[in-house]
Amino acid sequence: MRSAILPHRSHPEIFWLSADIFYSHPSIQQLSQLLLAFLNHGVVPERENSNAKMSKTFDHFAKLLNHSPLPQDLDPSPHGLSVVLTGTTGTLGAHLLEELATNPEISSIFCLNRSLLAEQHWHDRCVQRNISGHPERAMVEFFTVNFGIEDFGLDYSTQSKFTKSCDLIIHAAWKADFNQDLSSFADNIKSVLTLANWSISSTTRPRIGFLSSISSVGPWNPTYNSGQGIPEAPIEDWEAAPSIGYSESKQISERLLDRAATESGIPVIILRVGQIGGSTTTTQAKWKQQELVPSMLKTSRSIGLIPADLPPVDWVPLNTISKIVTELAFYDVQSVSRTPSYYHVINPRPTPWRELIPEVEVQCGPGVRVVPLSDWVKKLRTYDATEMKEVSSKPALKMLNFFSLVASRGPTTKY
Ligand SMILES: NC(=O)c1ccc[n+]([C@@H]2O[C@H](COP(=O)([O-])OP(=O)(O)OC[C@H]3O[C@@H](n4cnc5c(N)ncnc54)[C@H](OP(=O)(O)O)[C@@H]3O)[C@@H](O)[C@H]2O)c1
Repeated sequence: MRSAILPHRSHPEIFWLSADIFYSHPSIQQLSQLLLAFLNHGVVPERENSNAKMSKTFDHFAKLLNHSPLPQDLDPSPHGLSVVLTGTTGTLGAHLLEELATNPEISSIFCLNRSLLAEQHWHDRCVQRNISGHPERAMVEFFTVNFGIEDFGLDYSTQSKFTKSCDLIIHAAWKADFNQDLSSFADNIKSVLTLANWSISSTTRPRIGFLSSISSVGPWNPTYNSGQGIPEAPIEDWEAAPSIGYSESKQISERLLDRAATESGIPVIILRVGQIGGSTTTTQAKWKQQELVPSMLKTSRSIGLIPADLPPVDWVPLNTISKIVTELAFYDVQSVSRTPSYYHVINPRPTPWRELIPEVEVQCGPGVRVVPLSDWVKKLRTYDATEMKEVSSKPALKMLNFFSLVASRGPTTKY
């Protein structure tokens, strides 16, 4: 796009035309309007203040929350516990499904996914991991949904099939992209609104277990670096989330659920999950290559530089996370509380990153150098993030915003 515009405008004039523009204007229509305004009228897009954007987005969704007083008598679920689980095609969702499906206290699981292949995904996993023969296996049903539309596009009878009997909704489906702007997470936030409204209108008032992220309250945010640690509580400060659409969307969603809990009495549990690591059991899935840490390691090998000052390693293995999440989400599940619970699901005994560096050096091969993260980021910026070949050998190019943020803030937040 730059090269198409350069014959008409000078380099300094198009300083604003960076990769972020594509993320903040994610449709052809939005991009063309932006370009027309610039070319015809010289309008340079202004960056909207990120707090204002978060607050506006929250207000928009909060207005759409249903209101309904807590019924005097809640209908207990008739037989065993019933769960709605979203995002079972994802790494954690698939593990959670396995955990739930083999839990004898659970009688039914309704899986909501956008992919038509979700059921096949589960069947393949059952065969691979010999889950099919489990005598206590719960009934598992799959529904293909569109998370961005009203009631996920489900008709009333399908929807009430599970909302009428459900005890717990675990919401894991989310777009994991650290580059995109908050506006591109609107469907994700909307999915939280839909689930909250389902719970509000259900006679069982199912608890919502929301898989948030520790980044919703800001990794390495100086505001909270007073040594006290970030509390396991609502953080009523938009500043707490770094300016990354993913983190902002998680904080808005937390606050939306908090509002629904306090106004309409739905039980809510917010799980601020830290970095999920690979599984500790060899038979289970490896760490996904596209994720943050594997991307950073692959990039380090490719550019011959290892960052020296990354935050402490507080990753939690996938199999441990799914156990913790189910335990917390189910704890006292049929109790009713207007006070949402918050948990930081991170490793309480982090290892300093520097202790891992020698092994990373070995894995990266001879000649590799350990440099400050800011230099690592500077070096990465010299590669063309629009070149497929570069992105494939240096996948952290897709996460430059995130690493730049860590480099500028320093690795010192406590949770
Ligand atoms: N991995 C981590 O280190 C980490 C850390 C903190 C929090 N979390 C949170 O934990 C949850 C599970 O993470 P994960 O690592 O298992 O993620 P994942 O492997 O990327 O799986 C994401 C799931 O969400 C679905 N999904 C992706 N984009 C979506 C979209 N735009 N709208 C609706 N659904 C979408 C995927 O469905 P498709 O198969 O259709 O793409 C998949 O089922 C997420 O909420 C994530 O934010 C993860």
